Amino acid sequence: GDLLIGNRFISPDGFNRSAVLAGSSRSGLTFPGPVIVANRDDRFNLNVIDQLTDPTMLRTTSIHWHGLFQRGTQWADGPAGVTQCPITPGSSFLYQFQPRNQAGTFWYHSHHQSQYCDGLRGALVLYDRRDPLRYMYDVDDESTIITLADWYHVPAPSAGAVPTPDSTLINGKGRYAGGPPVALSVVNVVRDRRYRFRLISISCDPNFVFSIDGHQLTVIEVDGESVQPHTVDNIQIFVGQRYSVVLNANRPVGNYWIRAEPNIGTTGFAGGVNSAILRYRGAPATDPVSDRAPFNNRLNEANLRNLRPVPAPGIPRLGAADVNINLDIAFDPNTVQFSVNNATMLQPPVPILLQILSGARTPQELMPQGSVYVLPRNKVIEISIPGGSVGTPHPIHFHGHLFSVVRSAGSNVYNYANPVRRDVVNIGESNDNVTIRFLTDNAGPWILHCHIDWHLVLGLSVVFAEDVPTIAGLNPPQAWDDLCPKYEASGLD
Ligand code: C2O
Repeated sequence: GDLLIGNRFISPDGFNRSAVLAGSSRSGLTFPGPVIVANRDDRFNLNVIDQLTDPTMLRTTSIHWHGLFQRGTQWADGPAGVTQCPITPGSSFLYQFQPRNQAGTFWYHSHHQSQYCDGLRGALVLYDRRDPLRYMYDVDDESTIITLADWYHVPAPSAGAVPTPDSTLINGKGRYAGGPPVALSVVNVVRDRRYRFRLISISCDPNFVFSIDGHQLTVIEVDGESVQPHTVDNIQIFVGQRYSVVLNANRPVGNYWIRAEPNIGTTGFAGGVNSAILRYRGAPATDPVSDRAPFNNRLNEANLRNLRPVPAPGIPRLGAADVNINLDIAFDPNTVQFSVNNATMLQPPVPILLQILSGARTPQELMPQGSVYVLPRNKVIEISIPGGSVGTPHPIHFHGHLFSVVRSAGSNVYNYANPVRRDVVNIGESNDNVTIRFLTDNAGPWILHCHIDWHLVLGLSVVFAEDVPTIAGLNPPQAWDDLCPKYEASGLD
C-alpha cells in the first residue's frame, strides 16, 4: 500500500505545530503514524510517497523498519547515506521486503537526519498466528500497542545543542507543564481478561520508567524475540526498545494511571503529565485517582540477564569470538560532535551500499574514512563499548541483527550461556563495558548508532560492512538506482 509522508499542523499536547507525518491518505496523516500490521512471512510492498512541503523542516525523507533484518533486501533498510539516497519531494520509493521468520513488535521511523523527532514514527507488528510459545502466555487479546514518545514545540535542529522535550506522549497524546488539560490516551480493558500490551519506545531521546498502577507486568517479548515469562512492576525502556507484557485485568473495575516517567524534560505526574489511563469496561470516563505502589521489581539493563531467551530453531549458539572490536565513544565540545574510535560519522552523501556496488572494498576505500568496519562472513563478532562517555545514556542500536547481550550496563557479569538477544542496548557509566555478540550471517552495510537521534546527527555511529563480497553481488531494483541520480560510479572520491 501507499504510505504518504506530508506536513500537517497537529497539537497532540495542546500546542499547535507543523509536523512531519505518515498516513495512508493525504487526510489521514497522524502522530504516531498508522500502525503497520502483517503476519509472519508476509511480503511488504510499501510505496513511500514524499509530499513534504514545509520549508522549515527537511523535505526529503527515508524510512527505516526498525528491527527487521532485510535479509536479501538490504537496499530497503532505510538509513539515508548507508543503504539509500533520500526520497525527494514529489517522488516515491517502493520498499519491498519479506521478513522471514520474524514476528513480534517493531516500529518504523524516518532515518534521515533527525526527521523522526518531527513526527515520522509509528508502530509495526508482525503477528504469528501459530506461535508455538502461546502456551506460556495465554492471552485473550494481543492487539494493544502503547507507544512512548517525546515531543517538541519547535522543529528538530540539524546539529548543535541537544533540545529538551516539551512533553511526552503516550499513544500520541500528552500534556505539558502549564499547558491545557487535553484528553489523555485511554487503554480499554475488560475485567478478568488477559492482554498482551506491546510497549514501544518511539522516543528521540528520553528513556522512560513505565508502570501501570495496581498491575504487574509479565514480560514475554524483547525486541521481536520471545523470552520466558518474567514478572516485574516497572520497566525502564530506552529509545527504540520494545517489550511485550501480559497484563491480567484482575483489579476492581475502575481507572488506573499508566505512567511513563522520562529521565529528562517534565518529571513527575502532576496534572497528568507523562501519563495515560487504563480503563476497565464499566468505569466512568474520568481521570484515575489511583496511587503508584512503591516499586520493588524493576526490569532494567542492570538485571537484563533475568530474562531468559526461549530456545528456538534459527537462534545461533555462539562459540568463541572470532573477531573482537572495541568501540570508544568520545565527545568534542569544540566541534560539538561525537566520535567512535576517533572518527565522526556524519550522514555520507554517497550511500555505503552504493559505494560497495561501485567497487569500494576496503575500509580505506569506504567513506567516511574510519567509520566503516569490514567484517568477514560467518564469524562470531564480539563488540565491547566502554560506558561513561559524555551524554550518557547512549542506547546503541544495530541494524540487520539481534545481538546477544553478554554483559549489560550496571552489571559486571558475563553471560555467555543464555544471553537475551535484542537490537538496542544502553551502554551505561564509566565502570561499564557493555559487550554484545552476533554471527555475521546477514550480508549488508549495517549501521550501529546511538538511537538518541540528536547524538546520531552529531556523529555517534559506525557502519559494519558485513560480508562485502556478497554485498557487492546484490542487485537493487532500478527505482533504488534512481534515488541517486547525480552519482557517477567512477567519481567515488
Ligand atoms: Cu530505529 Cu538506525 O534505527
